[in-house]
Amino acid sequence: MKKIIIEKRQGETLTLDNHQTNRKMYIESYGCQMNFSDSEIVASILAKEGFSSTKKIEEAEIVLVNTCSIREKAEQTVRKRLEYYNSIKKSKNKKMIVGVLGCMAERLKKNLLEEEKLVDIVVGPDAYRDLPKLITEVEDGKKAINVILSLEETYADINPIRLNSNGVCAYVSITRGCDNMCSFCVVPYTRGRERSRDPKSILEECNKLVFEGYKEVTLLGQNVDSYLWYGGGAKKNYKNATEEERNQSIDFASLLDFIATNIPELRIRFSTSNPQDMTIDVVKTMAKHKNICKYIHLPVQSGSDRILKLMNRGYNRKQYISLIDKIKEIIPECGISMDIITGFCSENEKDHLDTLSLMDYVKYDYGYMFKYSERSNTYAQRKMQDDVHEDIKQRRLSEIINKQTKHSLYNMKEKIGKVYEVLIEKLSKKSNNHYVGRTTHNTAVVFEKENKQIGEYVMVKINRCTSATLIGEII
Ligand code: 5AD
Ligand code: SF4
Repeated sequence: MKKIIIEKRQGETLTLDNHQTNRKMYIESYGCQMNFSDSEIVASILAKEGFSSTKKIEEAEIVLVNTCSIREKAEQTVRKRLEYYNSIKKSKNKKMIVGVLGCMAERLKKNLLEEEKLVDIVVGPDAYRDLPKLITEVEDGKKAINVILSLEETYADINPIRLNSNGVCAYVSITRGCDNMCSFCVVPYTRGRERSRDPKSILEECNKLVFEGYKEVTLLGQNVDSYLWYGGGAKKNYKNATEEERNQSIDFASLLDFIATNIPELRIRFSTSNPQDMTIDVVKTMAKHKNICKYIHLPVQSGSDRILKLMNRGYNRKQYISLIDKIKEIIPECGISMDIITGFCSENEKDHLDTLSLMDYVKYDYGYMFKYSERSNTYAQRKMQDDVHEDIKQRRLSEIINKQTKHSLYNMKEKIGKVYEVLIEKLSKKSNNHYVGRTTHNTAVVFEKENKQIGEYVMVKINRCTSATLIGEII
């Protein structure tokens, strides 16, 4: 594995160039962790223009919604929010500027500005640096749009402003875009081609977080295993890299090793992994470092070879199972979760049973399960029929969710009586006398506070559980 040499730098606190102007921005985020992380980049870009964040929409000069297009329901939610912002604009704050960021921006472009007249600014995921200019255009009475996708942009130099943070866990983005072209997925169209961020800037951001008191980072990308730094630029252009660039290139296993070695006190998670790109080197690196959490989110989408092929997933059931076996062999207690889509084009009962039997084999710790939602312009929308009836999709989804709930409970019960190290994240929602934190396996644990503080590690003995939470006591 390659080593990266860098001087360890202390973090600096953020200074705003222009905050005396005291303008207010309100940012709401939907969808994946990447969107939440992007909103923190946007907050940083606007802080330089004198904007500070507010939770009161009525007092905001600019209201931004960071949107998701992954399923139709996500888009409907955002449209409702846009209508709500516009009602506030009409009744309470006529000068308010409404902007759409993220995946819907790229997909709907002018529709949102012109036909629906719900927004003033539309900005795609690679154009956030342009926001100050776009705001000025709107102030000059125009509508403003930039949805250009980039082969280079990683926002590597921007210090995100942490929004809604518990001061313990933070997201750090490491790649942008996706080259995988799964046939159901809109992400490659909305977020563009895959590119990776300079490892030194990733380390710098992590060091800064530690300096500010953070204890855990989640390294983010649509496909983290595909991370490849060779001096910048799109991964698709790696074929044109010079020999020197190739020799110095850094893959995801090396990046993990680099961060974990340089900041041993920092807990490291990552998401999302993809079975077709995950290497055994990554699993070995996880095993090597105590500070890399023993948890992998490994979406399978379907247990049927026929459907996996139609989805263009790049692996089959046997390959997926063999990857799971290898993970369990190297890290026996590794927490594993999945995404499954049910009711994809032409899925029949046998395909569905294959998914259920794969779940029985893996016995995932958690799962995120969805009905297939056709997205325009994807390969599946152009070439296949969304032909599984809604009732059947719903019934299959219920069967999958029921099975997952049983597996989650089974895995949780296995943990009763054991002792786990837990990083305290926040107060429990149900009681001010209890904290909630997570184990290395990403399992939520609730326990009495005693005299401990948020951000501390404690050893907790597990006494009981639900299918989603362990309940225990500090020992
Ligand atoms: N319909 C339903 N679910 C989808 N996902 C991605 N695209 C779609 C779609 N068109 C799910 C996948 C992915 C997760 C982030 O969202 O399971 O892993
Ligand atoms: Fe979408 Fe597939 Fe890329 Fe995930 S790996 S973002 S599902 S195209």
